[in-house]
Amino acid sequence: MSSFHIYGHRGSSGTHPENTLLSFQAAHKAGAQGIELDVQLTKDLVPVVIHDERLERTTNGIGFVKDFLYEDLVRLDAGHSFSSRFQGNSIPSLKSVLEWITSNSLMLNIELKNGRFPYDHLETKVLELLTHYHLYDRTIISSFNHYSIQRLTQNGCKVETAILLMEKLVEPWDYLQQVGANSIHIECGAIDEYFITNTHKRGIPVRAFTVNDPYQIAALKKAGCSAIFTDFPLVAMQSI
Ligand code: G3P
Ligand code: CA
Repeated sequence: MSSFHIYGHRGSSGTHPENTLLSFQAAHKAGAQGIELDVQLTKDLVPVVIHDERLERTTNGIGFVKDFLYEDLVRLDAGHSFSSRFQGNSIPSLKSVLEWITSNSLMLNIELKNGRFPYDHLETKVLELLTHYHLYDRTIISSFNHYSIQRLTQNGCKVETAILLMEKLVEPWDYLQQVGANSIHIECGAIDEYFITNTHKRGIPVRAFTVNDPYQIAALKKAGCSAIFTDFPLVAMQSI
């Protein structure tokens, strides 16, 4: 567990419209070892890559993702709100991102955004796609919804799973076992070397989000963190 990986958070979201194919391609070009993305479900149960439950912040749509059919959602613009330079980029389906990722060797972190709405079929739909594209070996599924992660692990999920945390837990290895998850993804300001060392010692990878400061990235690497998620993968790659 001595390697250290850089994941592009929502792709290269500091330089490109988050969670678009263009953003993922930029992270890849920057040399990142992996990408992180967020998944929600449309009204007709298509997994789509978008962070918010609502469309307004990142697209020209109005309303909830869950109320749109996929064919209507892909017509929206997911680039213009970042910069007019990126106008014309759409919300990608998870399928389209997975198809692209089979052409490279990037690692993938799929975050299930099922905290606010349970999206009953989300876990199954994501697993179906990962099976179809043979991506089990280089994917981590994470969520702030630990019941969702527990459901996956209780159903014999073969993909690595991670719980998302905003704060440290006391003896997280015990909790992790209860959920059945493999690793911890935690807000970077919440961790210290003691937490990383003690968790790592038990064979549990700790990955930190979202880290954009090159000095903090270097410090987390030194402290034994397994990976970080950053909005600026090019800067991060140059800092390690
Ligand atoms: O997966 C880590 C991080 O992406 C979780 O927070 O809000 O950026 O999805 P958020
Ligand atoms: Ca995320």
